[in-house]
Amino acid sequence: MPQPIAISTISHINWDDLDTDKFADEEALIADLLASNPLSEGQRRSAVRLGRDLVEKARATGRKKGMMESFLEEFGLSNSEGLALMCLAEALLRVPDAATRDDLIAEKIRSGDWGAHKGQSDSWLVNASTWGLMLTGRVIGAPRALLKGPGKFVQGLIRESGEPVIRAAMMQAMRIMGEQFVLGRDVEAALKRGQRIVSSGQAAHFSFDMLGEGARTQADADRYFEAYSNAIDQVAKSKHPKAPPEQSSGVSVKLSALHPRYEAVNESRVMDELYPRLRTLCDRAAKINMHLCLDAEEADRLVISLKLLERLTAEPSLQGWDGLGLAVQAYQKRSTRVIQDLIKLARTSGMRLMIRLVKGAYWDSEIKHAQVSGYPNFPVFTNKQNTDLSYIANARAMLAGSPSIYPQFATHNAHTYSAIELLAADAGVGEYEFQRLHGMGEALFDAADAGGKVRIYAPVGAHEDLLPYLVRRLLENGANTSFVHAFLDPDVPVEHVVEDPIAKVEAGPRRHPRIPTPPRLYGPERSNSRGLDLSQLSARDAISNAMAEMRARPVIAAGAIVSGEALTASGEDVLSPGDGARIGTCLEASESVIHQALDAATDYQKDWDQLGGAKRASILRAMGDTLEENAPRLIALMAREAGKTLADGVDEVREAVDFCRYYATQAEADFEGPTRLPGPSGETNHLQLHGRGVFACISPWNFPLAIFTGQIAAALAAGNTVVAKPAEQTPLIAF
Ligand code: FAD
Ligand code: 2OP
Repeated sequence: MPQPIAISTISHINWDDLDTDKFADEEALIADLLASNPLSEGQRRSAVRLGRDLVEKARATGRKKGMMESFLEEFGLSNSEGLALMCLAEALLRVPDAATRDDLIAEKIRSGDWGAHKGQSDSWLVNASTWGLMLTGRVIGAPRALLKGPGKFVQGLIRESGEPVIRAAMMQAMRIMGEQFVLGRDVEAALKRGQRIVSSGQAAHFSFDMLGEGARTQADADRYFEAYSNAIDQVAKSKHPKAPPEQSSGVSVKLSALHPRYEAVNESRVMDELYPRLRTLCDRAAKINMHLCLDAEEADRLVISLKLLERLTAEPSLQGWDGLGLAVQAYQKRSTRVIQDLIKLARTSGMRLMIRLVKGAYWDSEIKHAQVSGYPNFPVFTNKQNTDLSYIANARAMLAGSPSIYPQFATHNAHTYSAIELLAADAGVGEYEFQRLHGMGEALFDAADAGGKVRIYAPVGAHEDLLPYLVRRLLENGANTSFVHAFLDPDVPVEHVVEDPIAKVEAGPRRHPRIPTPPRLYGPERSNSRGLDLSQLSARDAISNAMAEMRARPVIAAGAIVSGEALTASGEDVLSPGDGARIGTCLEASESVIHQALDAATDYQKDWDQLGGAKRASILRAMGDTLEENAPRLIALMAREAGKTLADGVDEVREAVDFCRYYATQAEADFEGPTRLPGPSGETNHLQLHGRGVFACISPWNFPLAIFTGQIAAALAAGNTVVAKPAEQTPLIAF
């Protein structure tokens, strides 16, 4: 048992300063990274030379390719067969009923030209269609059919054997595929297999990852927690009690597995409910001074993971442990600051931290998530070479930060590897390690003869929990920017497999020209409605402030807006369905007010119609902008009056804003002036669209803002006037 070395102090690091909005400008960040000169001119040349030598050496050894590698080489993600298989891998194991599974298989098999792949791969497994079949030896003996190519084979199978057989075969194929990435179904098996890999000199240690992440229910979280606890105990048994964490195997933990509400908006629940579980796991690991790494997951979980980490460093029972670690993603624009802050945390807390630098495995989803959510910008870089540059700069900072931190470099890229070796030699640092994923990167580290410095990250578990991990690996390896992808393709010359990423950054452009930032998602047609990133304290504060203001000053909604009838008339209390508190007053429209409203709408309709589409569009756009500016108030009110979650509230305001902008565009396109129709000579016909009169819009309580706004905006855009009635449960938001 290690002795305590220091009692923790509080780090005074404000993690909420890491809001992504403060790290938006990709070009400026990249300019700073370039200016920091992470590699000297000489190192740049050497890294390229070393990297190319490694690739040549690895290619020359003619190492037998794994099934996964052969599969990606043959199918990849750039043809319809590869995509079909990817969809199957992603979805099949999750489809609960046989009929739907059969439909899915039939659809995906039909979508590809399987014959085109016949005999292309040098892996018989892939030729046998990895998929339909191989499996098959076991399913039915049909070796002849293999020769006809997978498509025919599968179709033949369907005819001869019936759908249940195919379904079983496909399921089995998915499992075989998945198992390429898994070291064992349980820790015991993984430890045994790992021992053989260590004996062969391929690696020094392991980090065992229990498959499972993103728990959706408490039951899932309980199950994953048990799996991690058991894994720690088993790995502990295999560990020499005196071996330091860097010289023995450990575990990797995905925090999203431990709690179904591991998200920043639930920070207090995370601290009350997830943290104690994490501390229990850490206590067990610390008892035998074992390495435990917190994996890096989605960008919106970064800040909360750092808060959890800091709390662990201050835990009296963990003092003296030097196996606690965290993974940091270099593709995040904040990563440079994160590394600086972690070094500071290690120093102020007196706890040595093990930091695993990765590039980041969620790139596709980060880009889509930010666009769908309407964030001002992306949390990640948009150019691959920017991530490579960031990785190298962070690696240098980590080496400079050792021994307060223990640097761990996870990569399968020969250039990245070479650059780090050069940086470490230059810094005179010998205490660091490389990491690779099980099933990947063997050839590189064999060629580098670096097995003794390598820790393998080894997923352990059953196929039910594999999917997200498998999909990340397929996307990663299938991407044409991926090192592994280029490395495997013998047609890609070594000069292209290994290039100097810094030269690519210098050549520009400094951000990807074809990935529009979230606000520009719809191009010139309309701007994307602005989202609020609730993982940022500033966004949550804006809503809390609006709530506080509402408590201080309840809202008064009056049906009397049209007539200006006295607001002094007594209205009815509107109570929050959540806690029964009064949030405002609603003064219902009297019959006379309703008549006045109808008359006013009828009188004004003609003028409104004659205003024309363009003028109405500008009014609707102003309406959308005003809603957007008032988002925090509207979200707060929807939470109070309709019982909406904040995330649902954000989505609803955005939908309302988008309705206004969308219909504005329609008004301009269809209602501005007459259009001339094609017709016979001697006759001219014009088409002009007009409003029809007064619309009555009645909205439901479950989308008190979006549907209310949407139907009104549509009617107004088309030149109608509107009398609107909200759901009786949600008059305040309508008002
Ligand atoms: P490369 O081919 O050089 O790099 C590929 C990476 O570049 C992509 O994964 C992506 O991050 C980045 N990239 C690709 N295209 C773009 C683009 N257009 N713009 C910006 N960046 C781009 N990942 C995690 O997220 N969390 C973890 O905890 C984690 N743990 C890992 C542990 C180990 C041992 C290893 C080896 C990897 C781990 N990863 C983790 C995965 C890692 O993030 C990378 O996805 C993977 O290693 C590929 O990087 P590379 O250097 O090997 O390959
Ligand atoms: C992932 O799960 C390896 O943590 C990384 O993709």
